[in-house]
Amino acid sequence: MEHVPVMVQEIMSHLDPKPGNVVADGTLGLGGHALEFCKRIAPGGHLFGFDWDEKMFAEATNRLSVVKDVKVTLTAQDFRQAPAVLDRNQARPNAVLLDLGLNSGQVDDAERGMSFREVGPLDMRMDVRVGEPASAWLNRATLDEIDNVLRDYGDERWARAIARAILARRKEQPLRTTEDLVECVLAAIPVGARDKRLHPATRTFQAIRIFINGELEELSEAIVALAERLADGGAIAVLSYHSGEDRVVKGAFRELAKEGFREELRKPQLPTDAEIARNARSRSARLRVLRKLDRESVGQQEADREETQDEYQTN
Ligand SMILES: C[S@@+](CC[C@H](N)C(=O)[O-])C[C@H]1O[C@@H](n2cnc3c(N)ncnc32)[C@H](O)[C@@H]1O
Repeated sequence: MEHVPVMVQEIMSHLDPKPGNVVADGTLGLGGHALEFCKRIAPGGHLFGFDWDEKMFAEATNRLSVVKDVKVTLTAQDFRQAPAVLDRNQARPNAVLLDLGLNSGQVDDAERGMSFREVGPLDMRMDVRVGEPASAWLNRATLDEIDNVLRDYGDERWARAIARAILARRKEQPLRTTEDLVECVLAAIPVGARDKRLHPATRTFQAIRIFINGELEELSEAIVALAERLADGGAIAVLSYHSGEDRVVKGAFRELAKEGFREELRKPQLPTDAEIARNARSRSARLRVLRKLDRESVGQQEADREETQDEYQTN
């Protein structure tokens, strides 16, 4: 299994982990970013790591077993549990990373049913211990439910037509494989209307995966809870890979930046052309970073705000 970690230099330069620091990586994947953190927080640092996918978690645990002079606490759970784990350990991280979405290892594994390029069971769950496979939902959901998911999580223009094709198909026989779903998409989108650069099933697979895994549920709350646990001066970086995710991150950061936090980037940072050329999977990445202000900076933020209000009242 291989996964090339995305925007490593940019993330390290914003979060700037130092020997002895505490770092929380909410999305271990194959441990690329986590290993880089460990190099920088040794000696004496503490890495907290999370992944809800048992296979990824096992792989990351294995890769991180070589780490020396850093305490490593790994939890095979949703990062929405991370605030509770940090509290139990009385830990205040100097840096937090959420590298959202999918790992190449998951996409390439046909058995997971996440990829329209591989024929496999139509499952799509990241944590196979909970919930139900995508096929079970698709064979039961109403036309409107499927339409809404494709629109909300995939920005799919052909959502209604695809939902109709799924309902027509399952009248004949239930959907079982990734190929069955690809066929429904191809039946629904006219050849002339297809985007040449994107496989027609891309948005459908993304939307159903996000829905089946509840990926956007309570994401905002989790970001707020993690940001609040940062040490003074610490920062949280979030890498998102589609507009729905980025909207949630942007909203959470904007709210937090009203008091006690500062956004480090006015606009999300993108990978360089050189990185995209090296690693095509990085092309949709968007990086946002939020810093928790120390006491002095909070005082300055309040003074700036009062000054702006005074100006507003006197004008
Ligand atoms: C893009 S990959 C992370 C890659 C990683 N940074 C690396 O360098 O290898 C995303 C990983 O986060 C995990 N993940 C996604 N959402 C999660 C969540 N809510 N809780 C825990 N893990 C999650 C996925 O299972 C996947 O392994």
